[in-house]
Amino acid sequence: MSSYVITGAARGIGFEFVRRFALKSENTVFALVRSRKNDQKLVEMGAKNVYILEADITDVKALKIAAAEVKKVTGGSLDYLINNAAFVEATRKNNNLDGYPEGQDDLLEKDLHDSFNTNVVGVVHTINAFLPLLRRGTAKKVITLSSGMGDAELVLKSGLSNQAPYAISKAALNMVVAKYAAEYKAEGLVFLTISPGLVDTSTKAPTPEEMKAYLEMLAYFRIISPSFEGPITPEKSVSMMIKVIDRWAVEDTGAFVSHYGNNHQWL
Ligand SMILES: NC(=O)c1ccc[n+]([C@@H]2O[C@H](COP(=O)([O-])OP(=O)(O)OC[C@H]3O[C@@H](n4cnc5c(N)ncnc54)[C@H](OP(=O)(O)O)[C@@H]3O)[C@@H](O)[C@H]2O)c1
Repeated sequence: MSSYVITGAARGIGFEFVRRFALKSENTVFALVRSRKNDQKLVEMGAKNVYILEADITDVKALKIAAAEVKKVTGGSLDYLINNAAFVEATRKNNNLDGYPEGQDDLLEKDLHDSFNTNVVGVVHTINAFLPLLRRGTAKKVITLSSGMGDAELVLKSGLSNQAPYAISKAALNMVVAKYAAEYKAEGLVFLTISPGLVDTSTKAPTPEEMKAYLEMLAYFRIISPSFEGPITPEKSVSMMIKVIDRWAVEDTGAFVSHYGNNHQWL
């Protein structure tokens, strides 16, 4: 019997983590959503062992309230925190660092700030809010979803220079996890940054423009992995990640790995 907190749980990979963990009725699963307005899929799931809590991860007060709710239910402990929520700016045509149109430096700055605010600062606030409970848990695992995009080697080998604000925030996030790991290794807490692979979490059909950008990205990915066939499902990604999470131990705390459990096979 384990307890889990998953952020960004309303859809995509976060929802699939909730669904998987809730399959065992003895588990207690806390699904954190940015807004209760978007929790339909979780409500429809109707699992008795899932508690839906509202918390934007950039809102320290909301995170503290959520942690207090978790404490009430579990009696003061938490086994797993899954930092899944992320800000992904998906509307820009060109988000290379020098690719924003002339005179739109403010948009570049906004994307850099928004990415950092959610993907780095928000995750730090989330970990801090739940740390006291995790320290009293049994598994003591903090799993943070990053991206191969945050791996400098992948960027250099593929030549993928776009999605810069997101990639920069994920690279910084890897360091966040290393810092916590350094601090809490002696106490037996396990911190792991994991990339889920390329996962189809789309909720609607892509526009022709989005499809074009997507195919361009796949072409870059095939430079590093010529046999890459395309995205995997959330079900497959989460299954693979759970195997890695289950076997990860404190000796290797602070690592940044893929859904295969290594640091070179991102696709
Ligand atoms: N999908 C991929 O191919 C891929 C690849 C590499 C890494 N990842 C990483 O895997 C994780 C999940 O990806 P995904 O594709 O499932 O993402 P997604 O479909 O875009 O869902 C992101 C989730 O995060 C929530 N969220 C965003 N900002 C938030 C905030 N400030 N506070 C609380 N929740 C917030 C969203 O809430 P709303 O529902 O309210 O919008 C949504 O539920 C992310 O960390 C992503 O960077 C994904």
